[in-house]
Amino acid sequence: MPAAVDPRTRNLGPVILLGPPGAGKGTQAKAIVARFAVPHISTGDILRDNRARGTELGKRAAAIMDRGELVPDELVCDMVADRLRQADCAPGFVLDGFPRTVKQAEWLDAYLAGSKCAPAVVVCIKVDYNELLRRLTGRRTCPACGRIYNVHFQPPRVSGVCDVDGSKLVARPDDSEEVIAPRLKAYETQTLPLVEYYTRSGRLRQVDGAAPVEQVTAQVMKALEA
Ligand code: AP5
Repeated sequence: MPAAVDPRTRNLGPVILLGPPGAGKGTQAKAIVARFAVPHISTGDILRDNRARGTELGKRAAAIMDRGELVPDELVCDMVADRLRQADCAPGFVLDGFPRTVKQAEWLDAYLAGSKCAPAVVVCIKVDYNELLRRLTGRRTCPACGRIYNVHFQPPRVSGVCDVDGSKLVARPDDSEEVIAPRLKAYETQTLPLVEYYTRSGRLRQVDGAAPVEQVTAQVMKALEA
């Protein structure tokens, strides 16, 4: 018997969330998943998971991530291809943190065309530098359920403890100030050219990521419906 399909699942197609570290890609991806019940594909999360399991990929990526640099395109594209081949991606999916270079974007366009998928809709979340710094240094994550908090903007009910499952919240090692600077630099030099790349093909929608989370979500949903 075929697996039951979640009634919220609609043919959303591929969605890319583009934006600098701390813009709120992960936060907004979770809102899209809650609305449309499609998979959330975060390349950062997959790399961190590989690292925690000590896989060959995780070992190769670890030092690069700790320096705040980008993992080589070939490794990341192979990893994304493995995930996109899974059946749950057929109605659509949300890419968070991918593509991050023009090479990755070209690879994805070719992959989607070859798989007879619709071209991706790209939602670019804009936030200024000082706000990004505050968000990244204040971010805390639940290691059990993945819920994202912020000590400044979205604190848990009890300090340091997840509202959902009571786990102790953790800070990401790359959210230290020494690693945030190279991450933002990598975004500026290697990822920002994607704004131009997707604008040329008419697929880019910009949202103001400086607004409160719910207002950003409303803008994202409007962009997806358009
Ligand atoms: P990755 O895990 O993708 O990190 P990132 O892109 O740096 O993005 P973040 O997860 O830091 O931020 P976010 O935009 O998701 O923000 P969030 O919603 O958490 O990548 C990590 C590393 O992996 C890279 O450095 C690289 O080495 C490697 N990598 C990954 N993908 C790769 C690729 N494709 N190619 C090569 N290498 C790759 O929000 C941040 C904080 O702000 C939270 O505390 C949240 O609560 C808060 N917040 C969110 N929205 C709001 C709001 N509207 N108002 C107030 N606070 C808010």
